[in-house]
Amino acid sequence: MSHLKKTYTTEAKFMLHGGDYNPDQWLDRPDILADDITFMQLANTNTFSLGIFAWSTLEPEEGVYQFDWLDKVINDIHQIDGRVILATPSGARPAWMSQKYPDVLRVNASRVKQLHGARHNHCFTSEVYREQTQKMNRLLAERYGSHPALLMWHISNEYGGECHCENCQNAFRSWLKEKYNHDIKQLNDAWWGPFWSHTFNDWSQVESPSPIGENAVHGLNLDWRRFVTDQTISFFENEIVPLKDLTPNIPITTNFMAETHDLIPFQSLDYSKFAQHLDVISWDAYPAWHNDWESTADLAMKVGFINDLYRSLKQQPFLLMESTPSAVNWHNVNKAKRPGMHLLSSMQMVAHGSDSILYFQWRKSRGSSEKFHGAVVDHDNSTHNRVFQEVAEVGTTLQQLSDVVGTNRPADVAILYDWENNWALNDAQGFGRATKCYPQTLQQHYRTFWERDIPVDVITKEQDFSSYKLLIIPMLYLVSEETISRLKSFVAGGGTLVMTYISGIVNEYDLTYMGGWHQDLQEIFGIKPLETDTLYPSDRNRVNYRGQIYELKDYATVIENQSARTEGFYQEDFYAQTPAVTSSQYKQGKAYYIGARLQDDFHRDFYQTLIDELSLAPAFVVQHGRGVSVQVRQAEEKNYIFLMNFTEEEQQVTLKAAVKDMATEEELKGNITLAKYEVKIVEKRKVH
Ligand code: GLA
Ligand code: ZN
Repeated sequence: MSHLKKTYTTEAKFMLHGGDYNPDQWLDRPDILADDITFMQLANTNTFSLGIFAWSTLEPEEGVYQFDWLDKVINDIHQIDGRVILATPSGARPAWMSQKYPDVLRVNASRVKQLHGARHNHCFTSEVYREQTQKMNRLLAERYGSHPALLMWHISNEYGGECHCENCQNAFRSWLKEKYNHDIKQLNDAWWGPFWSHTFNDWSQVESPSPIGENAVHGLNLDWRRFVTDQTISFFENEIVPLKDLTPNIPITTNFMAETHDLIPFQSLDYSKFAQHLDVISWDAYPAWHNDWESTADLAMKVGFINDLYRSLKQQPFLLMESTPSAVNWHNVNKAKRPGMHLLSSMQMVAHGSDSILYFQWRKSRGSSEKFHGAVVDHDNSTHNRVFQEVAEVGTTLQQLSDVVGTNRPADVAILYDWENNWALNDAQGFGRATKCYPQTLQQHYRTFWERDIPVDVITKEQDFSSYKLLIIPMLYLVSEETISRLKSFVAGGGTLVMTYISGIVNEYDLTYMGGWHQDLQEIFGIKPLETDTLYPSDRNRVNYRGQIYELKDYATVIENQSARTEGFYQEDFYAQTPAVTSSQYKQGKAYYIGARLQDDFHRDFYQTLIDELSLAPAFVVQHGRGVSVQVRQAEEKNYIFLMNFTEEEQQVTLKAAVKDMATEEELKGNITLAKYEVKIVEKRKVH
């Protein structure tokens, strides 16, 4: 079942190290710009993202262009053998543009037209803005498209947000007409129109969701979110026209994000769709290391999860486009990375599939809102401080990892994440307001595999399921008939499927399935969920699973067993002694249903059984305690193994085979010690 895919599309055969560089803030300080070039070499960096917010410097007045400064910076970087990721500047536009073409300004959901300000605030439909960005991007491509330093295009910056102006309303209506075949009845049927008299008889009556207007039609909310993704992609596609035209061989990326809270995937855009338009996935990771609400290992597990999702979007290595070498400036508390954490956290990204360690930003700004955000070069302009030294150390380590570039991490286990599902589930009036926690639930299911070093792909519903032995789909509330039938084939063909409470409830229009659970699901699982009992946060119940007692909270499904085997049953309440966990053989495969929200102790034991049954194994076996993570990137001939200690204590680990330490070239075998926050990168030739 292993699949080694090597489809990474940059020609770089080295790990990228560097990051956002904003020389446009320092043009009157040639001494600083000269220091930058010297320091870049001292920091062992090689790649810089330029021009991300440089529009007002590139085009200070409409039609007046200033490229000479950028020519010089690119040439200077090239002189030191560096490479450039060149950005299109649409993430922030000059004031003259907003003043002259107010069309480019956003209107928020309350229908308030926004003033010029901040960044990331353009109307994604505006014809003027689309023309302006294309014009600028064409000039950039013409001027730098064949520069030997150009490695990649960085399109805009962290796309997000939405616009509710009249142009956007019209675009939304056209999108709906297309979707519902120009038949308003189809839209009314899909949105359950007669409820609260929400039937429309003309497209012009449809408005985007708003706190001062329509916000109760779930089908509308869901379609609006889909439209926002499609319209953002359409804006992006418009941006890249000249780049595809003039530089067809330069790969294109845009930097994705995560939500700060729990490091869950960014919510406002469906990245599974966006990914199809990119050559390379890149993302900006800012975990709150050393926080006061979770252990370092808990956070490391979440970092693993989201990396496994972003890597799996294209089943190829990705780029860490931004990270901080020390603190950020926008968390509630902006704590410095402790000594060692920068190398460890950077190597974790590489271990999960990143071919870069890039920072926001190279040099700290002197003014404005990010002047205290961590950067490689601080206001002291020194290369001797701790942060600079730790960055240089990451650089040295990355230089030893060139062979890792382009290698992937085959997995037999997949967990399914679905953006639309989370939108619909969060929108659903019902269950518990604060306890749905779909992405967090996935993290909890991921945990056992992370603790056991078993590689996982976090995939989305469009992807092929058939190469996996085990597919885990917790809380898949929204699921189309098409996906259900693909799940059925997966199990019929020999796959093992795990589903949980609150799954299979609505279709892709957010309309509930009728007649109980979908017939195909009943067939696969041999059960019929009858009721979902939502509990108060302090309520507890227990499940007896294979003779052991496990606590549950938040959700419990009352299940009618048709032909399944009861693996666990409830202990209390009106459904005491009825099935809570079931398994069922369906054709060549097996389907498990977990009816209640059980905790880590249950997941560890439950998944252990599947790990044994399906012979799921780490790519390299190391015996270790909790908080140590072993992740492997695989090439044809070798495994590159990352041994990482995410605890504050020294850890003893036992290697099951001899390996070579990539830093010291020493052979390591048997018992070794990992110091607090230590990472060792070792290699092992494969036995074929
Ligand atoms: C984002 C942006 C950067 C910068 C950083 C700060 O990721 O893309 O421009 O603001 O946050 O953490
Ligand atoms: Zn708009």
